[in-house]
Amino acid sequence: MQKKILITGGAGFIGSHVVRLFVNKYPEYQIINLDKLTYAGNLENLKDVENAPNYEFVKGDIQEKDFLAQLFTDKKITDVIHLAAESHVDRSISGPMEFIITNIVGTANLLEVARTSWLEGEHVFYHISTDEVYGSLGAEGFFEETTAYDPRSPYSASKASSDHLVRAYYHTYKLPVKLSNCSNNYGSHQFPEKLIPLMINNIKNNKPLPVYGTGENVRDWLWVEDHARAIDTIFHKGKIGDTYNIGGWNEWTNIALVKKMCQIMDVKLGRDAGTSEKLITYVKDRAGHDMRYAIDATKIKDELGWVPSLEFEEGLDKTVDWYLQNEEWINDVTSGDYQKYYKQHYSN
Ligand code: NAD
Ligand code: DAU
Repeated sequence: MQKKILITGGAGFIGSHVVRLFVNKYPEYQIINLDKLTYAGNLENLKDVENAPNYEFVKGDIQEKDFLAQLFTDKKITDVIHLAAESHVDRSISGPMEFIITNIVGTANLLEVARTSWLEGEHVFYHISTDEVYGSLGAEGFFEETTAYDPRSPYSASKASSDHLVRAYYHTYKLPVKLSNCSNNYGSHQFPEKLIPLMINNIKNNKPLPVYGTGENVRDWLWVEDHARAIDTIFHKGKIGDTYNIGGWNEWTNIALVKKMCQIMDVKLGRDAGTSEKLITYVKDRAGHDMRYAIDATKIKDELGWVPSLEFEEGLDKTVDWYLQNEEWINDVTSGDYQKYYKQHYSN
């Protein structure tokens, strides 16, 4: 039976990399990209695959269960890779309800439709989640698959809730699920509300670089294409019912990372060394700001043979180049609503 894989959120940052990988690597599969095209979804991200014979885009909302049920029937969906979500922590603090409805109810809708549609045959429901469900680490230790959940923002609580629902459908209904929890991604096509593309855009435009709190918070950064490869590996080789942590073994304090980006961009923009660092501005901290994330990715390495492929310095360099070479993309996504968001969020 031909696989007809529904990828939700495929027009977003990570989703577009996953769609591209699957469309190019598996011409024998049919890939159906379901996306609501919120502010974070952008079909420009998929220009290079939009005419591929094994690819189809459907505009739709995972909040609408009847629509999903019809889609499963019409397209004869065999598998799901679920990435659609509201993904930005700061927005979840100023407006949590959309996160609760999309991330929790939307995931529940998809689970329910999969459960009632897949009465026979082999299927996979793969839920893409985050390391933020585990809470905040001190100076030592790593998140393991067995670490207790301790989400602290409306975003991470909504993702934790969706993870619990996915596992509940496995235990209760034997729905063939897989899950993964990944650390911070970076790379091309990331919406410039997130740290790295926001800083690249501001450095380029000589705007202040807003570092929250002390800048000592730590994140573990992973090249988005390595995340997409991990998703491919887990989709094909991961065990039904299992969870895999994905990370880069690559911890940086925010301030060290922003300084690194300033150095890279001074060279690329032909500025004197130290010029961009002068733009660094410490601003009010994020409410409930998690101190440190760090992933122990031993399980996926030992059991499935996945390891990150790209050194961080090379990845950062490629990322900066992509944003500098794609001015039209960045101008498009930062016009209109972005300006309003930016002003509202950074004015205090
Ligand atoms: P993103 O915000 O860039 O993209 C989300 C996509 O989902 C957008 O295309 C948007 O239009 C779509 N979407 C939102 N609400 C929808 C709805 N109701 N129905 C259909 N589509 C909808 O997010 P991202 O950074 O690419 O993250 C993708 C997934 O990976 C999310 O589930 C996120 O929690 C998870 N994740 C992200 C990171 C990261 O560093 N960005 C790390 C780990 C896990
Ligand atoms: O860990 C995985 C998570 O990584 C994903 O689940 C989320 O979807 C994704 O948004 C990301 O969450 P973070 O909150 O870690 O990412 P963000 O880019 O928003 O912030 C990274 C760090 O930088 C964080 O400590 C807050 C800080 N920061 C962020 C922004 C936007 C600043 O200091 N200034 C800023 O302007």
